[in-house]
Amino acid sequence: MSIKMTLSKLNKMKQSAKKIVCLTAYDATISNIANQAGVDVILVGDSLGMVVQGHQTTIPVSLDEMIYHTQMVQRKNTSAWCMVDMPFMADADMASALQSAAKLMKSGANMVKLEGGVRIVNMVSELAKLGVPVCSHLGLLPQHVAINGYKVTGRDEASAQRLLEEAKAVEAAGAAMLLLECVPSSLAKQVTDSVSIPVIGIGSGVDTDGQVLVVNDVLGLTENAPRFSKNFLDSTTGSIQSAIQKYTDEVRNSVFPTSEHLID
Ligand code: KIV
Repeated sequence: MSIKMTLSKLNKMKQSAKKIVCLTAYDATISNIANQAGVDVILVGDSLGMVVQGHQTTIPVSLDEMIYHTQMVQRKNTSAWCMVDMPFMADADMASALQSAAKLMKSGANMVKLEGGVRIVNMVSELAKLGVPVCSHLGLLPQHVAINGYKVTGRDEASAQRLLEEAKAVEAAGAAMLLLECVPSSLAKQVTDSVSIPVIGIGSGVDTDGQVLVVNDVLGLTENAPRFSKNFLDSTTGSIQSAIQKYTDEVRNSVFPTSEHLID
């Protein structure tokens, strides 16, 4: 059995510039395959609302559903750090955030991911004091698409500065990780260089400490997959195991993402 990933090992990977491989998983089978491929972080993402449940957005996903999928993933996960999304409104106020995080941690999560920066600073601080590692999701926030739409943030100077300040604020509050979604690559690099916690990117260029993709995109199962993703299940791989292995190897060696996957 491989040794379980820890936050301290993830921090060391950042310090030694070893790329962190993160992949979503929603069930025990993919969790097991991700372990075999050497994936460092499994994200039980609320993207399951779209790719598993068939919804248009992540909004309908409930806390009970996140707990159910976390339990399935964790039954077979022996080596990866398991980050779990706080679903829409489960962190609407401090009391709900604490209660929801407790339920996710008790179901097997190693870390909870909350969307936002300034909005979640106090929650990050309280959760960290109580022993809950938090990842702050910045940039494109899927739970906020009704207001913001699916648009890239940080293209102009003012929003880039705001994002950088948010990243520093959540780190100061005790966040243990950042996830940047659809942030221009130069800004993603600036954020990565400005904080000491690991920064995982999606659609944010190659210079973050690690990468995450939705497993359904990696396996070519998504209709109209985002431009920043890549189908690794082609004739050169030929199996789900090999495709996830190729994704892992390409992230580890900074082969993925390329300029083709930039949204700058
Ligand atoms: O829910 C999810 O899968 C995510 C990724 C898109 C980063 O948050």
